[in-house]
Parts: sequence; C-alpha cells; structure tokens
Amino acid sequence: MPAAAADELVVAVSKGRILKDALPLLAATGIVPVEDPERSRKLILDTSVPGIRLVVIRATDVPTYVEYGAADVGIAGKDTLLEYDGDGYYEPLDLGIAKCKLVVAGRPEAATTTARLRVATKYSAVARRWFAEKGVQCEVIKLYGSMELAPLVGLADLIVDLVDTGNTLKANGLVCLEHICEVSSRLIVNKAAQKTKHARIARLIADLSRAIGAGT
Ligand code: ATP
Ligand code: PRP
Repeated sequence: MPAAAADELVVAVSKGRILKDALPLLAATGIVPVEDPERSRKLILDTSVPGIRLVVIRATDVPTYVEYGAADVGIAGKDTLLEYDGDGYYEPLDLGIAKCKLVVAGRPEAATTTARLRVATKYSAVARRWFAEKGVQCEVIKLYGSMELAPLVGLADLIVDLVDTGNTLKANGLVCLEHICEVSSRLIVNKAAQKTKHARIARLIADLSRAIGAGT
C-alpha cells in the first residue's frame, strides 16, 4: 500500500473485539466507515470524513503498519504492543476499550518459581521478560490460540494469556497465579506522521479524548 498522502489519515484498527469497541468511539468523533467493516471484503474503507480511511487488520499487524508508516495511526491492545519488537510509534492515548488482564495461569497447584518451567503462550517476549525478571528459568512454547489447553494435555506447566471474565480459565480447571498487567487498547501514532500531519492527528486525539471522557 502506498504511504498515505499528506492530507490523508490512514487508521489501522485490529479486527475482532477491538474493532467492535473502537467503532462506537470513532463514530463519536464523526468517523464512520461507509461500509460495514465486519461484512465488507474491502481492505481499505472510506469513512464519512473525507481523507480519513480505515484499514482493518489482524491485531498483531497493527504496530507493523504504523511503525512503517503504511498507516498513520493505529488502535491496538497493550498486550500486542508489549509483545511487538519495535518502537517506531508514539502511544499518546489509552482508549479504555477491550479491557482485560495479562496473567500467568495454570492448575491451582502449579508452581511458578521452580526451575525449567514450560510456559505456553502467544506472548513469548512478554513471558520471557516476566520470568527473567523473577530470575526463573523457563522454556517458552509459542502457541497461536487456545492457550488454556496446554496445561491440560501436558504441553506446558503454565500459560501466559489474557483473562477477562475468567470463564475460560474456570471452565478448564485453571486459575490465575500471577498478574502481569492490565490491558486496554491504545492509540498509536507513526513518528513521522506525528510531525507531518500534526494538526490532523492532534484533532483526532482531542476528539477521541472527548469521546472517552463522555463515556462513549
Ligand atoms: P489474532 O486473530 O490476530 O490472533 P485474536 O484472536 O487474539 O487476534 P481478539 O481475540 O479479537 O483477536 O483479540 C484482539 C485483542 O483484544 C487482544 O490483543 C486484546 O487486546 C483484546 N482482547 C483479547 N481477548 C480479550 C478478552 N477476553 N476480553 C477483552 N479484550 C480482549
Ligand atoms: C481470549 C483469551 C482467553 C479468553 C479470556 O481468547 O485468549 O482465552 O479470551 O476471556 P475470559 O476470561 O472472558 O474467558 P479468545 O476468545 O480471543 O480466543 P483465542 O484463544 O483464539 O485467542
């Protein structure tokens, strides 16, 4: 995708839960996609605001698009940002949507400090950092979903995953053992765009802040 023209703003939004929560927030700032992003097969969507376009992509791809300037701004979970290996963006605003927690979980009797723990997770960088900071040696096994299965079938002792209601852990006889951090979605901004499109981005941040404050 060519870089966005100087008077345009490309907004990258994570598919799924974040998109569901982000659409009402964007709508409160007057930005409404002209087609339903959950139904359209189009990858770049025009919006009600001339010059503002949405790209709806996988959560893990949002920081990449923003770092490389293919999108000027993005909306991504703090979990994804903590896992992302790069810093080519600013993170000016906590949008307070798609809230959950990143935790270490396992069977109720599982130890979290013994040597040679096996930890299954989609968040391998986060898990490595967490256990290294505690001085605990562990082997991290990368998975792409359904982490809760790993301790049940002997793939791992522990998992690092997101928890919201706790229903998934409970349904699988697992418990939260350690709290790593709170998660919510953040607005991220490409560093170059922050300078070249300053007025447009400042207005978006102000509008979103107002929408959050109004409890949209
Ligand atoms: P992908 O398909 O790219 O692997 P995913 O299946 O994790 O993404 P979602 O489940 O929609 O996609 O999650 C996207 C983001 O939503 C996560 O990065 C996190 O910030 C947030 N999230 C995930 N699970 C929950 C949850 N149970 N409650 C609230 N927010 C969540
Ligand atoms: C997410 C997360 C947990 C679950 C937590 O999974 O990975 O499994 O939600 O939510 P809860 O505490 O409210 O039960 P998701 O539904 O996205 O499926 P996934 O395993 O395919 O990522």
